[in-house]
Amino acid sequence: MIFYFSGTGNSRWVAEQLSVLLNDRLIAISEAFASGEFTYTLAEGERLGFVFPTYSWGPAPVMVDFIKRMEINGYSEDTFVYMVTTCGDDVGLSVKIWQKALGEMKGCAAYSVQMPNNYILLPGFDVDSKDLELQKKEKAIGRVEYISKRISERHRETDVVEGACAWLKSRVIYPWFSRYSMSDKKFIVDTEKCTHCGLCVKSCPMKNISLNENLTPQWHGDCAMCLACIHRCPVRAIEYAHATQKKGRYFFK
Ligand SMILES: Cc1cc2nc3c(=O)[nH]c(=O)nc-3n(C[C@H](O)[C@H](O)[C@H](O)COP(=O)(O)O)c2cc1C
Ligand code: SF4
Ligand code: SF4
Repeated sequence: MIFYFSGTGNSRWVAEQLSVLLNDRLIAISEAFASGEFTYTLAEGERLGFVFPTYSWGPAPVMVDFIKRMEINGYSEDTFVYMVTTCGDDVGLSVKIWQKALGEMKGCAAYSVQMPNNYILLPGFDVDSKDLELQKKEKAIGRVEYISKRISERHRETDVVEGACAWLKSRVIYPWFSRYSMSDKKFIVDTEKCTHCGLCVKSCPMKNISLNENLTPQWHGDCAMCLACIHRCPVRAIEYAHATQKKGRYFFK
């Protein structure tokens, strides 16, 4: 069983590849949040996987929230529990934060996969060049195949790029991000540009966007900060305050 969360499609692609290579079933945690149903049953010997993006040097907070709410029937000490996190560069202490969220369950293996960057909100951060984007995607194919082999062989290991100053980033910046930055209040829409296509609504994994009476998007306060809406808009009608006007856009194809 693989639980996944994805905004701009990188983690969904990784989860789909793993699901095929490992023959594990795939579950989008967005469905659990939509239905309010967080109970699952493992078959005998079934693995338990978590695939999610790194946000601010920790697991996407929505995945931490999911892990704390989920109830897994059939878990035993023999269950092989693993995580794979996608990132633009590095993941800090994401593995430790994931393990803590698991509580009594024991994480056995953890991997990171570098994928095209989608973080564009702060000065100095932008999407990758087209060349780098393609290089990362090319490399990721082999990386995911390698990870699936290691998981199927039940290696107990941590194989992630932590990056520099991991403690500071994950123990100071990540808690601040989780607590104060998960807000959709700064999204704005240029009503002149909006073509009312509804792609922002469809791309939101939290079902947090609807079109108002003028057929332009409105946000409803339950945001995972995945940035899918801003990246998916085909006419760049969505911005995040004044931070993103000069930034690129990215969505996994
Ligand atoms: C809010 C936010 C914070 C991010 N923080 C990090 C980070 O700490 N380290 C990193 O390497 N990439 C970071 N990224 C980039 C994403 O982890 C990366 O692009 C990921 O593959 C996106 O996954 P998705 O397409 O499944 O949503 C961040 C992206 C967002 C939206
Ligand atoms: S509102 Fe936008 S950033 Fe927030 S969860 Fe939905 S798609 Fe992601
Ligand atoms: S994706 Fe862009 S153009 Fe389409 S409805 Fe949303 S804001 Fe408007």
